[in-house]
Parts: sequence; structure tokens; C-alpha cells
Amino acid sequence: MVTGGESGIGRASAIALAQAGWDVAILYYRDAAAAAETAKAVTDAGRRAAQVQADVGDEAAVEAAFDAAVAALGPIACLVNSAGLNMRGTPVADMALAQWQQMLRTDLDGVFLTSRRFVRDAHARKQGGSIVNISSIHAVDVRAGGADYCAAKAAVKSLTETMALEEAPHGVTVNCVAPGMILTPMNARAVADADYRRALEANIPAGRAGTPEEVAALVVFLASPAARYINGATLTIDGALSLLLAQDA
Ligand SMILES: NC(=O)c1ccc[n+]([C@@H]2O[C@H](COP(=O)([O-])OP(=O)(O)OC[C@H]3O[C@@H](n4cnc5c(N)ncnc54)[C@H](O)[C@@H]3O)[C@@H](O)[C@H]2O)c1
Repeated sequence: MVTGGESGIGRASAIALAQAGWDVAILYYRDAAAAAETAKAVTDAGRRAAQVQADVGDEAAVEAAFDAAVAALGPIACLVNSAGLNMRGTPVADMALAQWQQMLRTDLDGVFLTSRRFVRDAHARKQGGSIVNISSIHAVDVRAGGADYCAAKAAVKSLTETMALEEAPHGVTVNCVAPGMILTPMNARAVADADYRRALEANIPAGRAGTPEEVAALVVFLASPAARYINGATLTIDGALSLLLAQDA
């Protein structure tokens, strides 16, 4: 099950998981046609695909989406939480409560709701599994104008670690991937405007932004048997961007 599977890192993860031999349920929000494109790529890779719709912040919708995915594909052995909103550059002084709550509902409540359902099913089946949460380097390295986003992602890191402790005895791993700048629709301006992108990329030690496929490869690894002993970890994938602290003064 991949949330946000109709776009960006979620789509790339769904396709990479299929190429690695997984059947994939694509949880999408509003764009059924985009989800269908991901589903086609999954079936083109020779695996089965299911499309399920939900707002990840809606408890009943998440439960119904899991019911539909299990009915279509069978028990879910891996959950990738990629659904999320981006920061909007709003300082706290100017931030409406509604903006704060929408971010927390999507980026944190969503991970709670899908993960809770996933582990309840895993416990019932006694077969373990893996959860991979797409966090961000901004969970730790905060940015002005992103208090809602940074708080949500920091809480996802904490939720990941708490669940890893709780779930390790059940054979479930719970890990975070923390990307830096990745070229997805979330960074639409950088994708469309080469000058703007190059200006940002000049700040990244690797000299370029990352691709959703590079993040997806890490997701596939964390979902694989080779990663069974990695639990509660946050794996940063940012071209060394987050190491650029306290360098120049
Ligand atoms: N792109 C980056 O540079 C970057 C960096 C760090 C972390 N991330 C994280 O990676 C994840 C994926 O982002 P992306 O870059 O692929 O962006 P994206 O905009 O392409 O994908 C985000 C997805 O979340 C879905 N979504 C939003 N609200 C939802 C809701 N209420 N219910 C269900 N789905 C919802 C959207 O439909 C979309 O498919 C996000 O959690 C994001 O915070 C991205």
C-alpha cells in the first residue's frame, strides 16, 4: 500500500516496488486518472495493482481504503506513507489555525491512521511487515515559514521511533526516509524553471536535486528482507544538504 501513490515519490515507489516483485495498492486523494497511470505502470511491470481513494486524515475513509485494498490484493505486507502537503512559507505570526490543522491532519494524522490499521492487521495475521514513512530533512533542520510542516515531520519521526519499539516484537519494522530537495510536483517551480532550479541546486553539496526514483530505491530496500534488522531508523537522502550547518561562521 502506497499513499500519495498518484504522484511524485509515492508514484515512483509504487513502480519500483512493482519492479521488485510487489503487488501494489495505490491510495490516491483526488486524481483518479493519475492513480490509473501509476496502476498501469505497476501492471506493465507484471504485478497486480489496485486503486483506492481516501483522504488520509479521514479515519473512516482510511479504513474503507484498506478494506478495499485487502479485498483486491490480499493482506498488506508493506505500507509506504508518502501522502503529504508542502510548506507554504507562512510565518507562525501569520498562520491561520486552519492551515496548521490541515497540515497536521494530512502529514501526521494520516500516518497515524494508516499505520494503526496496518499494524492491527499485521498482528491479526502474525506475519510482520514493514512501514516506510516519507519524512523530510526539515523534521530536524527547520526552515522559517514551515512551522506546520516541520512540526508534522518531526512528529512523524517520533511516531516512527515509538512504533518501532512497539512493533519490533511483532516482526514489523517502522522506518523513515528523510529526503532533501527532490524533483516532484511538490517542487513544481524547480521542475519547470531551470534557472530557479540551478540557483537552489547550487546550495546542495551534490550539485543537484534528487529524483523520486532515487528515493524509491531506498523505499524498496527498507521494504525488503535485507532490511529486516533496521528498525526505527531515519535514512537521509539529500546529497549531503543537511550537513551544511555551522560551516561559514
Ligand atoms: N519533493 C521533495 O522535495 C520532498 C522532500 C522531503 C519530503 N518530501 C515528502 O515526500 C512526500 C511525497 O511528496 P512528493 O514530493 O511526492 O509530492 P507530491 O505533491 O507529488 O505528492 C504528494 C501526494 O500526497 C497526496 N495527498 C495530499 N493530501 C492528501 C490527503 N489529504 N489524503 C491523501 N493523499 C493526499 C497528493 O494527492 C499527492 O499524491 C511528502 O510527504 C513530502 O512531504 C518531499
